[in-house]
Amino acid sequence: MTNNKGPIGIFDSGIGGLTVLKEVLKMLPSEDTLYLGDTARLPYGTKSEETVIKYSIENTRFLLKYNIKLLIVACNTASAVSLPVLRKQFSIPIVGVIEAGARAAVRATKNGKVGIIGTDTTISSSAYTKAIKSVSPDMDTVGQPCPLFVPLVEEGWIDDDITLSVAERYLGPLKNKDIDTLVLGCTHYPLLKGVIQKVMGSGVTLIDSAEETAVEVTEVLMRMNLNPPYTPFSKGGEVNVPVRRFFVTDVPRRFEEQWSRFLGEKLSKIEKIDLIL
Ligand code: DGL
Repeated sequence: MTNNKGPIGIFDSGIGGLTVLKEVLKMLPSEDTLYLGDTARLPYGTKSEETVIKYSIENTRFLLKYNIKLLIVACNTASAVSLPVLRKQFSIPIVGVIEAGARAAVRATKNGKVGIIGTDTTISSSAYTKAIKSVSPDMDTVGQPCPLFVPLVEEGWIDDDITLSVAERYLGPLKNKDIDTLVLGCTHYPLLKGVIQKVMGSGVTLIDSAEETAVEVTEVLMRMNLNPPYTPFSKGGEVNVPVRRFFVTDVPRRFEEQWSRFLGEKLSKIEKIDLIL
């Protein structure tokens, strides 16, 4: 039996995946959603593949306790290394952020040259390159890790000269590679779109994998008949308000400020949980 009434589960290493949730809520406002941010073990982007896979399995097991109907791995690093294992181990549909971003990049490029930026682990996994080439084998890709972008976004230095210098340093080598499309392969990078576009110039199309993932989730739900029937009112006549729950494994300092930066709204009620009990 299809579980079209269950919530959508989303996890990320922290609160960066809220950029994905934000796009999902725009497209699917009546869906119930459960977000898990593994803030206690962040960052994933500098950890080994083995560790990221272990964490991803634990996050998925936690969300499955709530009978989720679909899982979004809203972390590029976790998507890059753990999707095949998760899909083998769990039977619900699982959407990562990489395949959607790869397809959008192939659609956008005119000269077949695509750049990819992400964390160290994402770039060294070559997951984007593999995904892009599986859509279109003739594509030329070039990857560039930009590890300092994550702490700069968390610090709130979005439109700052220091961020601009860091971006010039990281993106300089890509500018000589004649790419016309650049994939923002990390949950934090959509917040730096302005700076990245400034450095790359208006001739380069930026691909935001958060937006593309929301499109893919919508398509998967429709294809699998997993959309809930639209019921604006309950039997009693009250307005049905979609459930939105937020779980985190730690509440770090300055959490509130960072939260609103990513989701574009104030910190809602969050539930601190322990994944390993
Ligand atoms: N969420 C991670 C990603 O998209 C970035 C933060 C981290 O390194 O954990 O790759």
